[in-house]
Amino acid sequence: MRKLIVGNWKMNGSLLSNADLLRALRTGLPAEPAADVAVCVPFPYLAQVQGACAGGPIAWGAQDVSAHEAGAYTGEVSASMLRDFGCRYVIVGHSERRQYHGETDDVVARKAQRALAAGITPIVCVGETQAQRDQGDTEFIVKRQLAAVIHVVGHCVSEIVVAYEPVWAIGTGRTATPEQAQAVHAVLRAQLRAAVPNERRVRILYGGSMNAGNAAALLAQPDIDGGLIGGASLKADEFLRIIAAAD
Ligand code: PGA
Repeated sequence: MRKLIVGNWKMNGSLLSNADLLRALRTGLPAEPAADVAVCVPFPYLAQVQGACAGGPIAWGAQDVSAHEAGAYTGEVSASMLRDFGCRYVIVGHSERRQYHGETDDVVARKAQRALAAGITPIVCVGETQAQRDQGDTEFIVKRQLAAVIHVVGHCVSEIVVAYEPVWAIGTGRTATPEQAQAVHAVLRAQLRAAVPNERRVRILYGGSMNAGNAAALLAQPDIDGGLIGGASLKADEFLRIIAAAD
């Protein structure tokens, strides 16, 4: 399966720094990159990224989407609006949304459903906290999070991307070892296999302090189909080296 490397810019960037970063990425990427590449950017920069990436190998997406279709939801952004900007992807259920905005498994599942209905691929994030891992609950937690999405979207689950992001590894510099990550990815792969016949289409990304130094070992695991990269996606050189490691 062709790997997918996604940059999650989080709440970072400016018109100026984005232009520099995107120019460096477009210059540095080979005409046919070793992997599919995307950047998920803050809403105000979608138009900029759409313009800067048009006709090139970098796809783009957003970091959240409303669970509602349209109407009186002040401050929210709908899936059809993202579609207007040519978004190919949207991250849903990132642990920072679950933690700071109280997003439940059900809300995350409905966001994934809205994205799919608009023809956008949701990147569904799952992952355990350190306390949950310490209690031996990792498998239970990630399966519960993914099950909610499978329950709501049904057979369309073959159209999603899953990102396993252990909360304790996000932004901490503490990456899961390739073995730790692979063990969870295998669990998720088995869960998908039981849910849909064509589960092989579903890419399962690893995220959490992935960088140019550890990417190759993680991406070499049999069930790790790409990466969701936060901090390291803001540095063109580092992000390009991660993409190259996906070969
Ligand atoms: P990180 O973030 O690479 O900075 O750990 C990953 C993410 O939160 O998607």
